[in-house]
Amino acid sequence: MAYLLGIDIGTSGTKTVLFDERGNTVHSAVEEYPMYQPHIGWAEQQPQDWWNAVVNTIKEVIKKSGVNAHDIKGIGLSGQMHGAVLLDKEYKVLRPAIIWCDQRTHKECDEITEIIGKERLIELTANPALTGFTASKVMWIKNNQPEIFERIHKVLLPKDYIRFMLTGEFATEVSDASGTQFLNIGERNWSYEVLDKLGIPRNWMPDVYESAEVSGTVSEKAASLTGLKQGTPVVGGAGDQAAGAVGNGIVTTGVISSTIGTSGVVFAYTDKVSIDGKGRVHTFCHAVPGTWHVMGVTQGAGLSLKWLRDNFGNMEISLSKFLEIDPYVLMDQEAEKSPPGSQGLIYLPYLMGERTPHLDPHAKGVFFGLTAKHTRQDVIRSVMEGVSYSLRDCFEIIRELDIEVNEVRASGGGGRSRLWRQMQADMFNRDIVTINSSEGPALGVALLAGVGAGIYDNVPQACEATIKRESIQRPIPENVEVYDKYYPIYKGLYADLKDKFKEISMI
Ligand code: XUL
Repeated sequence: MAYLLGIDIGTSGTKTVLFDERGNTVHSAVEEYPMYQPHIGWAEQQPQDWWNAVVNTIKEVIKKSGVNAHDIKGIGLSGQMHGAVLLDKEYKVLRPAIIWCDQRTHKECDEITEIIGKERLIELTANPALTGFTASKVMWIKNNQPEIFERIHKVLLPKDYIRFMLTGEFATEVSDASGTQFLNIGERNWSYEVLDKLGIPRNWMPDVYESAEVSGTVSEKAASLTGLKQGTPVVGGAGDQAAGAVGNGIVTTGVISSTIGTSGVVFAYTDKVSIDGKGRVHTFCHAVPGTWHVMGVTQGAGLSLKWLRDNFGNMEISLSKFLEIDPYVLMDQEAEKSPPGSQGLIYLPYLMGERTPHLDPHAKGVFFGLTAKHTRQDVIRSVMEGVSYSLRDCFEIIRELDIEVNEVRASGGGGRSRLWRQMQADMFNRDIVTINSSEGPALGVALLAGVGAGIYDNVPQACEATIKRESIQRPIPENVEVYDKYYPIYKGLYADLKDKFKEISMI
């Protein structure tokens, strides 16, 4: 039997999963690490923490599975997108990575738009300048830390830094590179026009591959640290969203996914470059050659519930230790006791600004409609509903772009909650489907590795061979009606508060 390894370098931790060639999970391991927020709206991580987590989880998976490393035929890398890992000429990390949810770069976004021109930027990169994307982070370094900017030798995305540590190669692939804002999305290669106009040397960028192409092999040093076999192929892999989409079988028209991880994403496959002129959703290269995808992103999805758990969930955390279950399961049980609509309590999930549908780094979280009758159950439910309303915002734009939607597949940590899936079925008024694997990005990149290693013919065939539908939840008409009444109020709140968000950010 051949085995494939999928490694997902996420925001809260790294998950490494060993699969057999039928897509069954053989063993998985997770190691968490911190995110640093030196100021409100800033978000950084230490690339060394990712690498330690990758080494430890690979070692654990090989040891506990008992699989011979010779039988691991390919490795795929996935990870949080958009981060800027800066290396000097000795390949040392120059500063902590500024990661995807960091919002410090609104001035640099204006600068990029000014230099390239709004329309030309969208023509080339298919997206307006965004605070989350890598380009504005590199420009922030240029403007604020010139002593570091001068020493940059390479700019890498998080998973591509791990590729460098595993293989010694400087490489990326089209899906993750799309989120840098340095890529020409139509041509699937770096846009020299963007790089040159922004004053970013072309040779700072790694080579660009398609996602299932082999980009390097495990080095002798990495093999001795991890227990992998030297020479094992490492394919391009994919940014976490495209990888998750492959792992959910979103490789054909009509099937979209709704993922609740730290961020929340509604993701649709397209066979042409479809751009939202208002820039509310992103258009990126997909991990399937010659195809693209459109996705709407909620910055604070799982992050919102985690924030609630960490700050107000002591009861659930203590009880969960005693009962040996996940605190989120207890939070779900609490939320279930509150009715749809949370008795008029509405939550806006803008804890880290927002992307879809409001490109607004100043947006803030809000509880609206709070009264003395509300309980902690209503509060928990309202947070889950607020995230789901925000995913509905993404869903509505994808429908506006005339993208066919026949089926929505739920995934991510939040997709494991039956209640959260039902909220999405009720808000989208569509069936929500789960599939046989919940490994998402790790499975997606393992399948890409399988294509690179010649185990599967191509990406859609790899998905067909391994991914099956498991459950369907249908919309409940009474709930659809309730949410249809609250949704316009939810939508209106942002418009009402927009200026206040900015005012409070300026204090
Ligand atoms: C996608 C995005 C997130 C991050 C972290 O655009 O920002 O998916 O990759 O999960």
